[in-house]
Amino acid sequence: MFKKADVDLESFQQYDIELCYENWTASEIIPAIVKTNVSGFSIIGHIAHLNLKEEVLQYKHIIGQVLMDKKPSLKTVVNKTGQIDNTFRNFKMELIAGEDNMIAQAKEHGFTFEFDFSKVYWNPRLSSEHQRVVNEIKKEDVVYDVFAGVGPFAIPAAKSRKAIVFANDLNPSSYESLCKNIKLNKIKTEIHCSNLDGREFIKTIVKPDILKRWENYMETGNKTNLKVVMNLPALGIEFTDTFQSLFADIDENIKPTSSDLLPYMYVYCFTKSETPEADVKQRLESTIGSQLPDNFTIHNVRNVAPNKEMMCVSFHMPAEILFRQKPEEGCGPEVKKRRIELEENNS
Ligand SMILES: C[S@@+](CC[C@H](N)C(=O)[O-])C[C@H]1O[C@@H](n2cnc3c(N)ncnc32)[C@H](O)[C@@H]1O
Repeated sequence: MFKKADVDLESFQQYDIELCYENWTASEIIPAIVKTNVSGFSIIGHIAHLNLKEEVLQYKHIIGQVLMDKKPSLKTVVNKTGQIDNTFRNFKMELIAGEDNMIAQAKEHGFTFEFDFSKVYWNPRLSSEHQRVVNEIKKEDVVYDVFAGVGPFAIPAAKSRKAIVFANDLNPSSYESLCKNIKLNKIKTEIHCSNLDGREFIKTIVKPDILKRWENYMETGNKTNLKVVMNLPALGIEFTDTFQSLFADIDENIKPTSSDLLPYMYVYCFTKSETPEADVKQRLESTIGSQLPDNFTIHNVRNVAPNKEMMCVSFHMPAEILFRQKPEEGCGPEVKKRRIELEENNS
């Protein structure tokens, strides 16, 4: 074979080469130590975030150290120690290697997000979903981000799509980062932040702003697309009931007649059903108390765990839900009069 290739065997020399730690990658070294494969990890700025299985926990510090040695951009390695089950959707975690610095700077599609990873929600696996939704936003659309986190929908919507944005999060630490990230990304367009419960945000900020847009349409004929993003998959569907009768009290003259003036929803949820689309549609319809419009769409965002999907349902919130009279108000003047009498008697 060598002769055929015209290689002179005399030119070969023998060397002793000592292979050591430096010659192997992290994905070669770690299984060699722990005798099993360690599942993947996320990188959030200088932090590597692992979710180690019980059987390899005894090796956690060495696993962390190998990652630090092999990936020079890493300064901190943490391991998830509990499920995301709290209101603010942040992980419980422990430091397994490196410095105890949780203030991360992450990049997503060219935008910079700074936050305390131990206090807020951040998931690099949602980056395509953020981009998918942002790509559907047009200049001068109004975006109401009910569960905005540190801004991965809100900041690109304002900066790259030039949308008017209202971003809200209940977690004070997310809110603080959101405000900071607006400055970091040098946003010059209109963006408002708030630190409210989602229902409060919808009633006190989203509602008056939508009314303003509808009034403006009546006066000028200028249509504004209204987009509501609700990314709190564990509870997002439940929050949609806030839209029931939200505009029941408004002047008939400003009620829009065309569906494209109604808020367009992006509602996220989880499902463990074998028929995810049917399950999500049924739950959403039973919460809002009406059928979804025919042109609704359901997007499978990602597989979160075996048999657990994250989905996004998009639709124009039906007029009959927004303008429906509240049940007690729909009972006619007699009942209203009686209620007022009772209230007066009780006061
Ligand atoms: C799954 S995270 C999504 C964050 C961000 N939109 C993203 O895509 O990364 C949900 C966010 O909702 C916030 N949150 C939880 N309960 C809330 C509530 N009742 N009102 C407003 N925000 C809430 C959490 O603090 C968290 O930042």
